[in-house]
Amino acid sequence: MYPLPLVTLLCPVRHCAAPLERQARALICSQGHSFDLARSGYCNLLQPQDRRSRQPGDSKAAVEARRRLLDAGYGAALLRALEEEMDALALRPGAAVLDVGCGEGYYLGALTGRGGIEAHGLDLSVPAVDLAARRHPGINWVVANADRFLPYAAGSFDVVLSLDARLPPSEILRVMVPEGRLLVAVPAPDDLVELRAAVLGEGVLRDRLARAAETLADDFVLEERRTVRQTARLDAAALRDALAATYRGARESRQARLEAIPEMEVTLAHDLARFRPLPHFRDTIASPA
Ligand SMILES: C[S@@+](CC[C@H](N)C(=O)[O-])C[C@H]1O[C@@H](n2cnc3c(N)ncnc32)[C@H](O)[C@@H]1O
Ligand SMILES: [Zn+2]
Repeated sequence: MYPLPLVTLLCPVRHCAAPLERQARALICSQGHSFDLARSGYCNLLQPQDRRSRQPGDSKAAVEARRRLLDAGYGAALLRALEEEMDALALRPGAAVLDVGCGEGYYLGALTGRGGIEAHGLDLSVPAVDLAARRHPGINWVVANADRFLPYAAGSFDVVLSLDARLPPSEILRVMVPEGRLLVAVPAPDDLVELRAAVLGEGVLRDRLARAAETLADDFVLEERRTVRQTARLDAAALRDALAATYRGARESRQARLEAIPEMEVTLAHDLARFRPLPHFRDTIASPA
């Protein structure tokens, strides 16, 4: 069941943005725009202009690959670090947390399982959100395009998470309380470096966190950053999943190189940063474009 949230969801129809109210099996605004709740408990708020492809966001195959990896414990180091960050924030009981680009819900599900928060997860991929909702019924899951509009009232969230995911600065700033915090994780330069070197011919990558900080610079200040690492021996199936989960599994030449590797010890590494909003004076009235 879709829970009854305290955070107000907003209608995603172009130029509407009226509050959505829960009615039996739908969310509906005062203008009569209505969005059915799926049987698994999420709400699809996608608008025609959000669908650049017929299957926007991660494919079912990529989502399932990521879930297998995470279920096997390959997200454990990042999850532990996120738990530490959340504990350090000493949030008020019932604090509202939004996960932008939540995928199949592993991290938000685990953080919510510890109790004390009202959790909202948003992703562009229907297969991702469907899987998330099936496993974690106590969370408010929506399908929406974070690049266009975050369908929540201004000042709703104490914490926003963006984990290997989209980072729309002005929308994140709008939906966050002024003293809120944004936790951003990106793959560290040496994430999967062994696998990328063997299959893609790539080495250590650039600092994506520096790029994220630049994207955010007008609205947020970086408070703290750290790198979390674990090493794992991945078998052939897990190596395939690791590539599929990062969008890169499909090409045939790579597939052949991958199939020649029976197992491999790989580095799993994330850069994790905490950002604080800068004081701002802009208009905070939402209006989906
Ligand atoms: C690399 S995955 C990370 C998923 C999850 N945060 C995790 O760490 O397991 C990136 C996610 O962003 C989603 N995504 C891509 N474009 C998006 C958009 N415009 N709005 C919302 N989500 C988007 C994809 O569907 C995918 O689930
Ligand atoms: Zn509406």
